[in-house]
Amino acid sequence: MIIRPATKDDLPAILRIESVTFDAPWTKAHFLYELEKNPFSFLFVAVEEGHLVGYVDWWKTFEVGQLNNLAVAGPLRGKGIGHILLKDTLQRMKEAGCETAMLEVRVSNKAAIALYQSEGFQTSHRKPHYYENGEDAWAMIKTL
Ligand SMILES: CC(C)(COP(=O)(O)OP(=O)(O)OC[C@H]1O[C@@H](n2cnc3c(N)ncnc32)[C@H](O)[C@@H]1OP(=O)(O)O)[C@@H](O)C(=O)NCCC(=O)NCCS
Repeated sequence: MIIRPATKDDLPAILRIESVTFDAPWTKAHFLYELEKNPFSFLFVAVEEGHLVGYVDWWKTFEVGQLNNLAVAGPLRGKGIGHILLKDTLQRMKEAGCETAMLEVRVSNKAAIALYQSEGFQTSHRKPHYYENGEDAWAMIKTL
């Protein structure tokens, strides 16, 4: 598996995963903004034998790396891809000069919370009604 910066050509495959994964999926316009307009954004894809199997989006805001989006293709979950993508992202954040990694995650998203905890993230505080359906988020943080 390789992890490389996303290009416009990756968007159809990213959107196929995004649309079936999240209740409020990012749109093509949103990903295009991250790719072409947002100078603080990093969008990377994981590719296995030519197939896009996952992706991650993060921002560098001064010394903070903010993880915005991370997903693995449904049938390929539970095989270590998310863990590899997360580890790679944390390394890239560090190399970019970030001192802290931060993220928000649905309190019900046990798989993602376990993944983040396995890489040393700790819950910092709960954000009530953070998501569009009213669900709370955990804010999680890790020193890089
Ligand atoms: C969260 C997600 C990215 C994890 O990717 P993945 O490739 O399935 O995860 P991995 O196989 O690398 O697992 C890494 C760790 O995550 C945790 N984990 C993964 N799936 C889990 C599950 N179903 N239940 C509990 N923990 C789980 C475990 O700690 C696991 O480590 P272990 O295998 O040593 O127990 C993936 O499930 C996904 O795309 N989910 C939908 C999108 C999403 O929720 N993104 C996060 C938004 S904040």
